[in-house]
Amino acid sequence: MAETNQNKVPDTGHEWDGIRELTNPPPRWWNIAFIMSFVWLVAYIIIYPSIPLVNDYTKGVTGWTALQEYKDAVAANDAIRAPYIAKLEKMSAEEILGDQEMKNFANSYTNALFGDRCASCHGSNGQGVEKMFPVLNDDDWLYGGTLQDITDTIVDGRVGFMSAFQGQLDEAEIGQLADFVMNVSSGSATQAGWDAYNNAGCSGCHGEDAKGNKWVGAANLTDGIWRFGSSRDDVLKTIKFGVNQDGVKGTQSGVMPGFGEMLSANDIKLLTIRVWSLGGGQTE
Ligand code: HEC
Ligand code: HEC
Repeated sequence: MAETNQNKVPDTGHEWDGIRELTNPPPRWWNIAFIMSFVWLVAYIIIYPSIPLVNDYTKGVTGWTALQEYKDAVAANDAIRAPYIAKLEKMSAEEILGDQEMKNFANSYTNALFGDRCASCHGSNGQGVEKMFPVLNDDDWLYGGTLQDITDTIVDGRVGFMSAFQGQLDEAEIGQLADFVMNVSSGSATQAGWDAYNNAGCSGCHGEDAKGNKWVGAANLTDGIWRFGSSRDDVLKTIKFGVNQDGVKGTQSGVMPGFGEMLSANDIKLLTIRVWSLGGGQTE
């Protein structure tokens, strides 16, 4: 059937390998679609920005632009947030923590801030980086976990100092202290160990009970939570070379930059709330 039909239609005179090029008109649906696409094109040019000119472009009757739509959406979002932000500025950290809605808002507001300023060191959830940056989402604090302590840390930064004991003490004494630290962390320190600890002057910073001292950031040595690693070798290294000791090769380093100059008081308050709420906030 197709063959008879084909034979009736005149061809263009072209033939390749027995295939003739016919002069059939395009189907009706195709013509309609073709014309419609022109109509659509003209309508689009009239309505929307479309043709690029030398320094400008045709604007279309609606004046719509994707950029303006985005700006409007941002402005609408800001308008929703503005009253919350104004309210947050007037509230103290304690008041915000007591108000579930404002607390939620503060936490979502600081997602980007914490991500930009803090997460590179402390991790996106405050999980820290072993030996390098302390965990913020636990209740073990070097410098204290009250709202005031956390604010002070963020505003001024922190640099923990511990002297290097290599040279001051001999190998055997340093070894004995490392054993003491390992033992005290598991609750099994001997009296001889405590004596060595006190005699070496460790208690001056870490306290007579070895539970640390938030004023100098001296770690709690009894809790089995480690800032610079949990092995005896890690402990030896800290005792020998200290922490943040200029010019001492092998010294542990840990510097928390201060953000007092870089962030507004309101942002610091909201970040304090975020860190406090990560799980380990203290009330006194
Ligand atoms: C360049 C890396 C770095 C950045 C960025 C940083 N921190 Fe720290 N942060 C540290 C280090 C290192 C310490 C520990 C200091 C020490 O060991 O003496 C620390 C300590 C802290 C502590 C004290 C923890 C404790 O146990 O007492 C808090 C709280 C804290 N940072 C919060 C923040 C917040 C909030 C931000 C973002 C505004 C931030 N940090 C940004 C490196 C950083
Ligand atoms: C001048 C104060 C100071 C003295 C003295 C001192 N420390 Fe420290 N020590 C610190 C501070 C501060 C840190 C925590 C530093 C940080 O995280 O930035 C620390 C950390 C440590 C750590 C690491 C704990 C961990 O969780 O990884 C050990 C171990 C330690 N000290 C043992 C000792 C011993 C043993 C002595 C005595 C020989 C001693 N320290 C003397 C201030 C001191």
